[in-house]
Amino acid sequence: MDEEIFKKTPGKTPNLNEYTKNQYSAEKQIEMWNGKINAAHNAIDRHCTTWRKNKIALIWEGEKEERKYTFNDLREETNRFANLLVELGIKKGDRAFIFLPRVPELYIGFLGIVKTGAIAGTMFSAFGPDAIKDRLKDSGASILITNSELKKRVDAVRHELPELRHIILTDSEKATHDTIPFSEAKKMPDKFDVARMDPEENAFMLYTSGTTGKPKGVVHCHWAIMHQHMTAKWVLDLQDDDIYWCTADPGWVTGIAYEILGNWSNGATTLVHEGRFDPEKWYSLIQKHKVTIWYTAPTAIRMLMQSGESYKKYDMSSLRHMCSVGEPLNPEAIRWGIKAFGLAFHDTWWQTETGGMLICNYICLDMKIGSMGKPFPGITASIVDDAGKELPIGEEGNLAIKPGWPSMMKVIWNNPKKYEEYFKGGWYISGDRAKMDKDGYFWFIGRADDVIKTAGERVGPFEVESALIEHKAVAEAGVIGKPDPTRGEIIKAFLKLRPGFSPSPQLENEIKEFIKSRLAGHAYPREIAFVESLPKTRSGKIMRRVLKARELGLPVGDLSTLEEY
Ligand code: PRX
Repeated sequence: MDEEIFKKTPGKTPNLNEYTKNQYSAEKQIEMWNGKINAAHNAIDRHCTTWRKNKIALIWEGEKEERKYTFNDLREETNRFANLLVELGIKKGDRAFIFLPRVPELYIGFLGIVKTGAIAGTMFSAFGPDAIKDRLKDSGASILITNSELKKRVDAVRHELPELRHIILTDSEKATHDTIPFSEAKKMPDKFDVARMDPEENAFMLYTSGTTGKPKGVVHCHWAIMHQHMTAKWVLDLQDDDIYWCTADPGWVTGIAYEILGNWSNGATTLVHEGRFDPEKWYSLIQKHKVTIWYTAPTAIRMLMQSGESYKKYDMSSLRHMCSVGEPLNPEAIRWGIKAFGLAFHDTWWQTETGGMLICNYICLDMKIGSMGKPFPGITASIVDDAGKELPIGEEGNLAIKPGWPSMMKVIWNNPKKYEEYFKGGWYISGDRAKMDKDGYFWFIGRADDVIKTAGERVGPFEVESALIEHKAVAEAGVIGKPDPTRGEIIKAFLKLRPGFSPSPQLENEIKEFIKSRLAGHAYPREIAFVESLPKTRSGKIMRRVLKARELGLPVGDLSTLEEY
């Protein structure tokens, strides 16, 4: 293995061994009531009995205005919203979903739901009607918070969602036959009796994609905040004078664990940018708010690299620590960070299912450039074979974790069998392939399945294929992730057309638009190939691995089970 080491100077942060000691005292960092807990109380309310009460918790940089909220503002706003939810009849364990861009109501709504003891779910604002329907139907959500524009996509599938009782709109002042304005919360008391939950009771859920089937509802408990708190503290190194910016969207797990829970439980002033990615805007935000800690993703870093040296126009000197997550962080991106900002992006590895960072690079640890780093203290990671047996150092295998860390998913909603499938031989099997070197550093190799990571977002090929065959021209569809220098992977679809339809650029565009509007803006195939037939097994299953091997010019392997190719 080539090793390019980025050496660290021993500094004010404790060394890795001390993290473990600190973990034992971590419970004091989380406030509990005789064994009961609430994650939202830990993120916000408990700071209000300290000097942090009037500290800025949220700097919201909207498209048209900027707003600031102290911890006390968020405590009161989330209390008011929780009171509104109770008035609407919400009960412990109910599912309440949020379908919003990054506006303050998303954050207030999420925490308000968690305060009531209900389960908060989020949906990325690029989702179309089909994606929304799958999530709201499976979860049986009774409440949805959204805005008038996004509600149109919900209306298209509302008749299939009998359990959805209330829609709360952030941008309307008047109740209608089927909506309630978010602003009703203003009339509610700013005090709320926060639900005291068992640590293992559910707090939030997120749908994520696998190789097969519809997206799965991954559910996390209140106790997860313990792990989110400790990792935010020791990996992101959040201190009281930091201005922290996480560029993720709470429609995905990073935006929940480190833009709502772990960051605020550490009392960190957090910047949220409503708008989309834009290099000049991003640099100007770092300059304007004097951002010190930046948590972002490889695709964004690669796009910044491609945008030239515009960072030179801005004062980036406030930055003191930078981290990355979501897809492999390539060495060029780290080298570029060092050149541009004098700092290395620290890679972190984790998943929706793990609820928090598990394998990371740390300020105090020499970085082997290209490696995901080492397991967080208290976490046991290993490389195992398909039967769950540990493999020798240096061998490629399944990246596996010893179960039982605080933020490990608790259930897959409505699907206990799927949950069980994650565990083998006493290990949680991540679905990623990796190696561990003699020094205990982990190196990512790839997915063990067909899951696609495009611009850091996880997309299931099955979902895209199912949406494609709903188009009138498509008879069969096979979908793969094709390597892409900027986005990590792009989605490529191989389509067999129905009789009477023939390939054309117009049809290609029409199909792309169809997927964007039905499934999701980020999950459409950027490339489409029209084919005469698709490789299939005798049972009719499309063999994506054959499509991928052909696309990449690699050996296709054993074809003995193929019926058609
Ligand atoms: O394949 C790994 C990749 O992202 C997957 C998890 O995706 P998701 O559940 O959407 O969560 C992403 C944010 C926590 C993993 O199975 N992945 C995540 N981090 C890394 C990574 N691949 C390589 N290096 C990473 N640091």
